[in-house]
Amino acid sequence: MTVKVKVENLTKIFGRHPKATLKKLKGGLTKEEILKQTGHTVGINNVSFDVNDGEMFVIMGLSGSGKSTLIRCLNMLNVPTEGSIEVNGEDIVKYNKQELREFRQKKVAMVFQHFGLLTHRTVIRNVEYGLEIRGVPKEERYEKAKNMLATVGLEGWEDKYPSELSGGMQQRVGLARALANDPDILLMDEPFSALDPLIRRDMQLELLDIQAKLKKTIIFITHDVNEAFKLGDRVAVMKDGVIEQIGTPEEILANPVNEYIENFVQDVDKSKVVQAKHILFKPSALVSIKDGLKVAVKEMKTNGISSVFVVDSERKLRGLVTIDDTIKAMQDGKTLKDILIKDYFTTDPETYVQDLISKASSSKYPIAVVDETDKFMGIIMRVSVLSALT
Ligand SMILES: Nc1ncnc2c1ncn2[C@@H]1O[C@H](COP(=O)(O)OP(=O)(O)O)[C@@H](O)[C@H]1O
Ligand SMILES: [Mg+2]
Repeated sequence: MTVKVKVENLTKIFGRHPKATLKKLKGGLTKEEILKQTGHTVGINNVSFDVNDGEMFVIMGLSGSGKSTLIRCLNMLNVPTEGSIEVNGEDIVKYNKQELREFRQKKVAMVFQHFGLLTHRTVIRNVEYGLEIRGVPKEERYEKAKNMLATVGLEGWEDKYPSELSGGMQQRVGLARALANDPDILLMDEPFSALDPLIRRDMQLELLDIQAKLKKTIIFITHDVNEAFKLGDRVAVMKDGVIEQIGTPEEILANPVNEYIENFVQDVDKSKVVQAKHILFKPSALVSIKDGLKVAVKEMKTNGISSVFVVDSERKLRGLVTIDDTIKAMQDGKTLKDILIKDYFTTDPETYVQDLISKASSSKYPIAVVDETDKFMGIIMRVSVLSALT
């Protein structure tokens, strides 16, 4: 993994004398005290984090916690009071005007909550905008914009005006416009917060799709913990200008660092975060198809279980046998192959617990987790599914 963006000790103070106020902040005054004493607002306070190349990094926090302040530093719309922001190893805080212009035109693009489209331009002319500024020839930019509109599902809408589009479609235009420049980094400040829940869900899935295709580094802001955990490879939780915790959704769910985070994640619908791979375990018993019935019986007896999965020499799942069938087969002179049962459920490791509930509750056997080549990875018990939900 390569680090794409490295933010170190970043602080942004709003007001007339930020540097002098920074001293007070470092002296130990709180954000509140600083506001009272000096009238300055601490937007973000000593924030550090890395974002990896190709990662979807989500910044989550309540309104006023400093999310926009932070993301606006990442394209220098906000000039930090202190700290560094390395992108591809270069500190953009130190860029001169020319370098900054280049950076904004080529490396980074932003999608806003309220779309920020130009109302007097058609859809395609909105998407072309950044390319136009860069002086890309007319035909070429038209082609690129058209392709990008197709990518976001807006083929045929090129010549409409933004006002003729629904909110969801307008935000697709916003996304196409940001992507048209082929930026390395996409900054998204609550891009879906103004949309209806169903449209919002579509957009989230669409973004995951686009991300899988284009492999951009995305920094995504939201105040919605479910959205954060659904989209984020990693999530940073902010409070009062400070990052309280950074981790994968599972890490944060499993080990909230303080009460604040604990309260925050209480609202999370865990069934949409926890996946099969998080709750599977390696069974104590597993039988190879080459093993005889005797081995199978012994495995089940010593482990106190009534059925066991059977794999081949490549660990591919072949079936399951029960202890009753196995004992009977010994008497009848049958082999392991003759008594393989197939009426268990399998799942791939990425499936959400949500989608395992009905399988888990309607099956007598554990669920087998297999990878895309049918290789056996482990089992999931009904109780693991249920306890993952609470
Ligand atoms: N341009 C500004 N001037 C003064 N204060 C600001 C400015 N922008 C943001 N703030 C303050 O900084 C804090 C963080 O705001 P913001 O980053 O917009 O939070 P969020 O995006 O998480 O809702 C708030 O107290 C806000 O009032
Ligand atoms: Mg904001």
